[in-house]
Amino acid sequence: MNTPATGRSSRVYDARHYSQIVTICHRIIAIILLALLVGVWQMRLVARAAQRMSWPPLPTAPIVQPLTTIAGDVARGRAIVLDRKRGDCVVCHVMPLPDQQSHGTIGPPLFGLATHFTPESLRRRLVDPRTVNPQSVMPAYHKVSGLYAVLGRYRNQPILSAQEIEDVISYLLSLEEAPASQEPIEQATVSTPDERGLSSYRVENRRSGYTYLSSSQQQLQNDEFANPGMLWVERGRVLWNEVDAANGKSCATCHGNPEVSMRGVRTRYPQLDSGRRMLINLEQQINRCRTQHLHVAPYSYESDALLSLTALISYQSRGLPIAVRVEGRARPFFVAGRRFFVRRRGQLDLACTHCHDQNAGKRLRGEVLSQGQTNGFPIYRQLWQTLGSPHRMFAWCNTAVRATALPLGSQEYVNLELYMAWRARGLPVESPAIRR
Ligand code: HEC
Ligand code: HEC
Ligand code: HEC
Repeated sequence: MNTPATGRSSRVYDARHYSQIVTICHRIIAIILLALLVGVWQMRLVARAAQRMSWPPLPTAPIVQPLTTIAGDVARGRAIVLDRKRGDCVVCHVMPLPDQQSHGTIGPPLFGLATHFTPESLRRRLVDPRTVNPQSVMPAYHKVSGLYAVLGRYRNQPILSAQEIEDVISYLLSLEEAPASQEPIEQATVSTPDERGLSSYRVENRRSGYTYLSSSQQQLQNDEFANPGMLWVERGRVLWNEVDAANGKSCATCHGNPEVSMRGVRTRYPQLDSGRRMLINLEQQINRCRTQHLHVAPYSYESDALLSLTALISYQSRGLPIAVRVEGRARPFFVAGRRFFVRRRGQLDLACTHCHDQNAGKRLRGEVLSQGQTNGFPIYRQLWQTLGSPHRMFAWCNTAVRATALPLGSQEYVNLELYMAWRARGLPVESPAIRR
């Protein structure tokens, strides 16, 4: 008899039960959503932290889409690859371009790429090779961010435009297979300098720039009558004795005969100054003597007079091993110099270490890269047709990677000079050396 009542109460019960289930479900959904939100937020935090910690950035996905709607052009691509101001790929790669005289050997030879590359993989390598190989020394051809100290006129612009990248890709895919004569071509480009009789120019794995010279250039350096750098040594000797100060003194007044007083000095520089506060190089010590002891104006950096006195003093250490101090108060300067050496810079995004540690002995276009040792400075560089200081060389190498060069005599370069001298430890002073 109570069936209807039971029916009603069970219906009421069902409805209540249903609404309870709905509320529980809502709560569960709310909790899940909240958890998801918190999760996503935390993941973003973690990702950001990871981004900050990991340098260089982690590889990103390949760039699949063509960068422009106009298809690449093989002939234009070929011209870009050869153009020293644009692609200039032959500076590092041997390529099937017989009209090009010298090819570099820093990268692998580029032949028959179509068999193992797609347009997508080439696009990715050209746009930013470090997404393929984080340690790559190949410049990123279509990247403007993440670069350091780029020379003004190259700033905020990629090496190649989007269209130029597409043209180069088309050209690369058209490259023929290596000819049968490929082996000899490659070998001919890597010349190993004759090392017989040069053991004194080599200490452990450190090798003077002298060992990369031709034998006639080596003879020129050895011959004190023919070596053009000796002209500066002779001019330095005149300045050494010249009274240029109101107090009637010259360098010789205090230091006597440079053959005696200056022997071994070059091997110790850069070193801490007499107050043991600053790191100074030989040029700066000479200028300190001029201002503090002779009360005359300092010579400007890279002036003929400063080069001459530096050459005269350095020459007194010829043959003695480089031995700088890098401990104690010199340590922070040394550490800063080493940091400079390994820092990628410029539009080409290369550090000193990439050319002079990792690729020494390989060809950069026609020139075999040396270890970039500083034991020969000041050097008579045939390219310059004059004597030059290490700082001039640092500035030249900075500019070569399209980075801003620092002023000669700047503290950063003096620090770098100390690191470079430690790196050359044990190598003989060759000043004034002959270099290409
Ligand atoms: C500073 C030297 C340098 C320059 C300039 C350079 N490359 Fe490279 N390239 C390398 C090196 C080194 C590798 C080897 C892989 C690596 O280190 O990333 C390489 C690898 C490659 C590869 C892959 C080859 C393979 O078999 O895996 C291609 C393709 C390539 N480069 C094309 C080019 C093109 C095109 C240009 C000019 C637009 C160019 N490179 C300019 C150094 C260079
Ligand atoms: C009035 C004396 C005096 C005159 C003149 C003088 N110097 Fe000095 N020189 C010193 C003293 C003192 C030191 C020790 C370090 C210091 O005080 O800077 C020194 C140190 C040096 C050193 C470093 C030697 C070492 O062992 O580290 C060099 C190099 C040097 N002088 C070059 C020159 C040259 C070049 C001239 C001429 C332009 C010159 N000096 C003129 C007094 C003189
Ligand atoms: C793109 C490659 C490249 C980079 C990067 C580079 N250099 Fe050089 N460097 C050269 C070339 C080329 C020469 C001349 C030939 C040789 O001695 O290797 C040279 C020469 C030198 C020499 C003269 C060596 C001697 O025997 O007289 C020194 C020192 C030197 N570099 C230092 C540096 C320093 C320091 C840096 C970093 C600020 C640097 N280089 C970065 C290419 C490079």
